[in-house]
Amino acid sequence: MGANALLQENMRGKVVLLTGGNSGLGKATAMALAKMGADLTIVCRDQARGEAARGEIAEASGNTSVSLMIADLLLLREVRRVASEFRASHQRLDVLINNAGSNFTTYTETEDGLERTMALNYFAPFLLTNLLLEALEGSAPSRVVNVSSTAHYGASLDLDKIKGERGMGTGGLGAYGRSKLALVLFTYELARRLEGNGVTANCLHPGAVRTHIWAHAGALSPLTRLASQFMLSPEDGAKTQVYLASSAEVEGVTGKYFEKSTQKRSSRASYDEAMAGRLWDLSMKITGLSAG
Ligand SMILES: NC(=O)c1ccc[n+]([C@@H]2O[C@H](COP(=O)([O-])OP(=O)(O)OC[C@H]3O[C@@H](n4cnc5c(N)ncnc54)[C@H](OP(=O)(O)O)[C@@H]3O)[C@@H](O)[C@H]2O)c1
Repeated sequence: MGANALLQENMRGKVVLLTGGNSGLGKATAMALAKMGADLTIVCRDQARGEAARGEIAEASGNTSVSLMIADLLLLREVRRVASEFRASHQRLDVLINNAGSNFTTYTETEDGLERTMALNYFAPFLLTNLLLEALEGSAPSRVVNVSSTAHYGASLDLDKIKGERGMGTGGLGAYGRSKLALVLFTYELARRLEGNGVTANCLHPGAVRTHIWAHAGALSPLTRLASQFMLSPEDGAKTQVYLASSAEVEGVTGKYFEKSTQKRSSRASYDEAMAGRLWDLSMKITGLSAG
């Protein structure tokens, strides 16, 4: 049986854009959606790693519609470039999966004056999604899937320091947790703003998954190495995002948080609508989408 015979058809004709498709959860998600026949573009920051993943996904899935775009999503100008190149080359966008993310353990600012974890995990998805909204709306019913984390529980946001500041902490209890809470607040606010126009927005925690992200755990690494034996494989971890991207069961479902492909309540702070509205306005200014 040729590889093409393995292609399922349920995502045939669906245009999917996924960030961070060369490793971990992103690669496993890309592989699953390619096998379903999606017209898939993965955004990666490294040409060689991206090309290797694109080739492997195309080969293993038998899907010839797998493309690669290169961008360093830490930088707002790169997010703008990738959005504009995608719009120029595609008529539609059915599913946007904001998956790329990292957990930086040291404080560094990007050229935009943003702490790196906030830049990559929150401001990049915020800007990319907004720049692609017209394409999503034009392709409705369409979906935005944001990969958050259980680390958002326990986090809180200080909007005066939303760009991140030295000394505010890193990891799950610091910048990482805050970035993932901001992503949940963004998802819910987006869902409210898009209500009724056929674009859904949901977010998820994939589980504890054996990927490169744990290499950033620094001092915890011996512990995480031990814990990694009990973690999910990327393929199992990817199931919730694949479900949100492709399942008919969640057609029309919007503004929800998922774990194990099941709706779950996110943190109390994530349901603060006033905070979500203020975060949206501030993020519009910081990303240059509105005059600051
Ligand atoms: N693994 C878990 O247990 C877990 C739990 C909760 C949430 N998550 C979330 O799941 C998502 C995927 O992470 P993962 O666990 O699969 O980790 P991963 O294997 O490290 O994958 C992260 C992906 O993001 C890409 N990326 C990193 N920095 C980038 C940049 N500046 N520009 C463009 N792409 C960049 C990486 O590319 P490179 O290969 O070039 O670095 C990689 O493709 C993240 O949002 C993470 O926060 C993971």
